[in-house]
Amino acid sequence: MKKTKGIILAGGKGTRLFPLTKLYSKQLINVYDKPLIYYPLSTLILSGIDHILLISTQKDIPLYKKLFKDGKDLGLKIEYAVQNKPKGIAQALIIGEDFIKNDDVMLILGDNIFFGDMDFLRKSREKNENATIFAYNVSDPERYGVVEFDSKGRVISIEEKPKIPKSNYAVCGLYIYDSMCSKYAKRLKPSKRNELEITDLNNLYLSNGQLKCEKMGRGIAWLDTGTPESLLDASLFIGAIEQRQNLKVGCIEEVCLRIGFLKRKNYLKLVKKYPESDYKKYLLKIYEEI
Ligand code: DAU
Repeated sequence: MKKTKGIILAGGKGTRLFPLTKLYSKQLINVYDKPLIYYPLSTLILSGIDHILLISTQKDIPLYKKLFKDGKDLGLKIEYAVQNKPKGIAQALIIGEDFIKNDDVMLILGDNIFFGDMDFLRKSREKNENATIFAYNVSDPERYGVVEFDSKGRVISIEEKPKIPKSNYAVCGLYIYDSMCSKYAKRLKPSKRNELEITDLNNLYLSNGQLKCEKMGRGIAWLDTGTPESLLDASLFIGAIEQRQNLKVGCIEEVCLRIGFLKRKNYLKLVKKYPESDYKKYLLKIYEEI
């Protein structure tokens, strides 16, 4: 079976959330009870991906290394790379070229939270031929990449933040590509905002007849974290689910254990080292239940 690697893009200017982002990047801010980055990381893991490249700024990479080290404790392999300037999401695929090699790659934005049954992602990853993107029905499509479909559900166009959106379907910050993506990304020209736009890369795959777009159903929640209000909403959402179900969302240790990347004995060894906390209590409880 073919292999898919993962890339998390967790850099950016963080200007919109200043002064929250004065000390460290947005993806390290908490969403309810854990750093934001835990959620996209757990999405990759739930898709069956255990080899991950984390891209961030020079300043923040040491903090991520402190959080995850080489990933071995979690049964993962985590590598790091610096993006000197936020020159666009597609630049992540150029930075990651040597990492991707001949494999497929799932790229996720470090500030995107998905909640729900993620089994479809594993299937999309296995089915991917060239490029697969995901579209989600939103009330404010003009803030995103927007997909236009024909009557048979085929993609006609993708436009980045259009003033007059052609549909309500926003492109999520989660993309699957074949190993050609780095070469294609190098062909892109910077946009008006001087970025290598991921939408331009998707349009390139589209014009080659190589782009698939899957609609994410209403059973999946895709949460935004771009503003203080949406960050608070995300915390309240995750908090409500966790308290109601007595199960955590984006708990990377639990996810690694459930998916089989982390052996029971290594899980216990790791958790026992954690400081006394509700998080540790939860992880020990899960150990008894699985
Ligand atoms: O969230 C999905 C949307 O993400 C898509 O619908 C859009 O098509 C896509 O362009 C992107 O929209 P934004 O313009 O809102 O993305 P933003 O510039 O906010 O960057 C998203 C995250 O990626 C953010 O946390 C910062 C990080 N980033 C961004 C750029 C451009 C980097 O780490 N490096 C970068 O160079």
